[in-house]
Amino acid sequence: MLNVTKAVFPVAGLGTRFLPATKASPKEMLPIVDKPLIQYAVEEAIAAGITEMIFVTGRSKRAIEDHFDKSYEIEAELEARGKEKLLSLVRSIKPSHVDCFYVRQAEALGLGHAVLCAEKLVGDSPFAVVLADDLLDGRPPVLRQMIDVFDHYHTSVLGVEEIAPDESKSYGVIDGKQWEEDIFKLSGIVEKPAPADAPSRFGVVGRYVLKPRIFKHLRALRPGSGGELQLTDAIQSLLADEQVLAYRYSGTRFDCGSKLGYLKATVEFALRHPEVSSDFSEYLASRMPELQI
Ligand code: G1P
Repeated sequence: MLNVTKAVFPVAGLGTRFLPATKASPKEMLPIVDKPLIQYAVEEAIAAGITEMIFVTGRSKRAIEDHFDKSYEIEAELEARGKEKLLSLVRSIKPSHVDCFYVRQAEALGLGHAVLCAEKLVGDSPFAVVLADDLLDGRPPVLRQMIDVFDHYHTSVLGVEEIAPDESKSYGVIDGKQWEEDIFKLSGIVEKPAPADAPSRFGVVGRYVLKPRIFKHLRALRPGSGGELQLTDAIQSLLADEQVLAYRYSGTRFDCGSKLGYLKATVEFALRHPEVSSDFSEYLASRMPELQI
């Protein structure tokens, strides 16, 4: 059986939905309470058994490399000051059994192009694609759920959720038939259709488990929605060669590429953070009367 041990994290996008085009700091480095989004994504991948993290970065996105690099100075300083708790936290950012690889996407030509940039590092194995600005909170972690589906059916698996009809313009929307509870057999997929053209109510979230044959289709891509090379279009073309499944994951998604989603994630994760939850809930409660007016 082929194990999924590699994950590709495209982090070169501009993040213009949330912040005005920030070149210097990728949006994946924005923290939710005390950890950057990319750290949540990597922890989800580790929990799914992935050990090789492949980051597709871009110009001026080096903060990701720095974050996962060993920080001798900080560790020595914390050790000298006897700050054991902080020290183990810093050391847990990248556990020793995990390896990080970086490849640069010279031009932001779209998600399909970003994944194609990782081809040489992925090689001929199944792999995950994780969009860290979709923060998924699931038990077991969503990527684990999806790899379980992959291990069972040995076909590519897309994470999906039910979306409101007027949201179709923000998602890849699948066409297909329900096969089992929460599993759909794909017959097509469209990137960001107008509501009237959406083939179903199920939109793809930022989690994919793909078989390496996708690279053949990524190489042949022509610009699609928004003039970009779309992963969605390569998946549509992959369907001519092999079966693809969509899996309705169990969990909650926070769209941290949008201001509202980012704020919701911050509130939820703060409410369960051992250090701040009690003071923070008190603060929120104190704001309630005013908000209900
Ligand atoms: C990308 C994909 C889209 C998918 C979405 C999930 O779009 O192109 O198919 O539904 O991620 O977050 P983006 O949000 O980068 O525009």
